Amino acid sequence: MKIAVTGATGLIGRALVDRLLAEGREVVVVTRDPGRFAGGRRPGVAACGWDETPESMAARGIEAWVHLAGEPIAGKRWTKAQKEAIRRSRVETTRRVVEWIERSGGEGTVLVNASAVGFYGTSDTATFDEESPGGGDFLASVVAKWEGAARRAEEFGARVVLARFGVVLGREGGALPRMALPYRMGVGGPIGTGRQWISWIHLDDAVGLIVRALDAPVGGPLNVTSPHPVTMDEFGRTLGRVLGRPHRLRVPAAALRMIFGEGADVLLRGQRVLPKRALEWGYSFQYPHLEGALRAIFG
Ligand SMILES: NC(=O)c1ccc[n+]([C@@H]2O[C@H](COP(=O)([O-])OP(=O)(O)OC[C@H]3O[C@@H](n4cnc5c(N)ncnc54)[C@H](OP(=O)(O)O)[C@@H]3O)[C@@H](O)[C@H]2O)c1
Repeated sequence: MKIAVTGATGLIGRALVDRLLAEGREVVVVTRDPGRFAGGRRPGVAACGWDETPESMAARGIEAWVHLAGEPIAGKRWTKAQKEAIRRSRVETTRRVVEWIERSGGEGTVLVNASAVGFYGTSDTATFDEESPGGGDFLASVVAKWEGAARRAEEFGARVVLARFGVVLGREGGALPRMALPYRMGVGGPIGTGRQWISWIHLDDAVGLIVRALDAPVGGPLNVTSPHPVTMDEFGRTLGRVLGRPHRLRVPAAALRMIFGEGADVLLRGQRVLPKRALEWGYSFQYPHLEGALRAIFG
């Protein structure tokens, strides 16, 4: 099977490409900088840019698509321009992927489109699964537009899976190294009230679920989260224990808001999300519990 992967240079994409190549599949990386892959440096991997025409993309014979590209959501202050970059980098790239699928003939293809548990909005008390309605904040509205753009591929006969990722835990990239840093320096502690939920997943399970979604004849939303979400306080306590460092110094919400503006909500607010569909599929999580996941990462 030949699979196009956008965002293949990111945290999830790198691990996904390794897994696909190990399974003997061919990969076409879609990136802003195809030069990085020039000269067939990696057997089984071809690369192209976002300016690839629908005709030349169709000629590549791609059978499945995983669309992960997008401007990072956390880590930068949410100015008006940054919010626009977050939105545009997802909706416009998704439209381009759907154009390619249309020209390639959608029937029989699958699009696994990255999405986020931010779809559900935030709550300290509610529990969400794939049947829950969408929220009303900025991220929820971006996710709704992003998913809407992806679902257009269904009109061309493609099967579309909306992979709503929780916080993906890996050693190199994503939120975890930044969350671990204060603990390593001995100044770790609860963030904000600590009561906000964090629906997390180990990188290997995130990749495992994408691969399952490529192969299983299913479509629609799929929560890519572990079956055991935790509060931010429990997350920090577990992280401190795994790293052998104290969980003591609270990070005040006001300090984060000063640095990240509205973007601080990514850390200060959360949602308790359960992977109902993955469990219905009988997917067996390698790391269902946080402590095991963190020990595997930092061990
Ligand atoms: N990691 C998580 O915890 C998490 C949680 C929820 C949702 N998600 C979503 O899942 C997707 C993949 O996550 P990830 O953590 O692997 O992402 P990542 O490490 O930030 O990588 C995303 C990739 O997208 C491309 N990209 C970055 N900015 C872009 C822009 N402005 N326009 C077009 N492309 C851009 C880059 O690829 P090139 O440089 O090769 O173009 C980058 O390698 C993202 O859409 C993310 O929002 C991730």
